[in-house]
Amino acid sequence: MDLLREKNEMREWSRAMKRAGKRVALVPTMGSLHAGHLSLVQRAKQLADVVVVSIYVNPSQFSPTEDFGQYPRDVQGDLNKLQPFCVDAVFNPHDLYVRDANQSGTGLLESTTKSSQQAPNETIDDKRELNLKRQEGGHGHETWVRVEKLELPLCGRSRPGFFRGVATVVTKLFNIIEPDVALFGKKDYQQWRVICRMVRDLDFAIEIIGCDLQREEDGLAMSSRNVYLSSAERLQALSISRSLMQVKEAVLNGIVDVSSLVSLVKQEITSAFGRVDYIEISEQESLRPLQFVDCPAVLCVAAWFGRVRLIDNIELEPS
Ligand code: PAJ
Repeated sequence: MDLLREKNEMREWSRAMKRAGKRVALVPTMGSLHAGHLSLVQRAKQLADVVVVSIYVNPSQFSPTEDFGQYPRDVQGDLNKLQPFCVDAVFNPHDLYVRDANQSGTGLLESTTKSSQQAPNETIDDKRELNLKRQEGGHGHETWVRVEKLELPLCGRSRPGFFRGVATVVTKLFNIIEPDVALFGKKDYQQWRVICRMVRDLDFAIEIIGCDLQREEDGLAMSSRNVYLSSAERLQALSISRSLMQVKEAVLNGIVDVSSLVSLVKQEITSAFGRVDYIEISEQESLRPLQFVDCPAVLCVAAWFGRVRLIDNIELEPS
């Protein structure tokens, strides 16, 4: 397994593989790997001759109030976890963004450590613009990729600038590694849809594979952030997956009214002391909100347990 830290050596490595006729797969990650990530790696091995896993905690997708500084990092642990999967290369760049010569950081990174106070009359749009400005930081990097409609609902509403950061860093990874296929988890359902749309709209010659969400045995969606949960919060957080399963069952039994289904989830989460960020049922591809489950749909949830924000989802098919 080759460990590559520089963009140019990564590009050379990948091009050499392609010259040798190999099909290259990319699994982009922010590290702190768990079995959810590893399921993507396993699938990648089946779809390509060589597999690259990128490990990079991307500053531009964290807002100033989020956990960029505290995000769990354990590259050596990650390399150990990848070893048995015979991954061919790990791309773990020091930095992906251009630095100005007179600066010690990217500007993206420093902006994430400042706290943001929301003014009483500040709208979601004000907050979004403020965060975008902070992330730009007026420094070395100023080119961004935005998927204008798909980035707005669900996580886009509560995490302004998040999908802009994701789409931009994934574009950078695609341009450096030039993979034939890239794999994303449906755990981050909206992220997967945003990347699919970006690849279609901008003509990337890359096949995007969406992989099934992996759960712990008790149903909790696997996530690098689960380590932040206390044991009490972890138990309470099971209300999310429990209610998603109940909704799936209800839809199978012919209940298709979205407001009743959403109420069921809300009730379950709030009675377990969770704080709901959003619960929505949307059409699977456009993420357009639905009133009835009358087409392939997805129920997406974000909720806080203590200081941890968890997301989860389940696909629903009308019976
Ligand atoms: P990260 O959260 O590390 O996730 C990397 C990939 O693993 C994503 O495609 C994510 O959907 C997938 N994944 C995480 N948990 C999963 C689970 N329980 N089941 C299935 N897949 C799961 O997502 C990111 O990093 C970043 O936004 C990134 C795309 C790397 C861009 O910075």
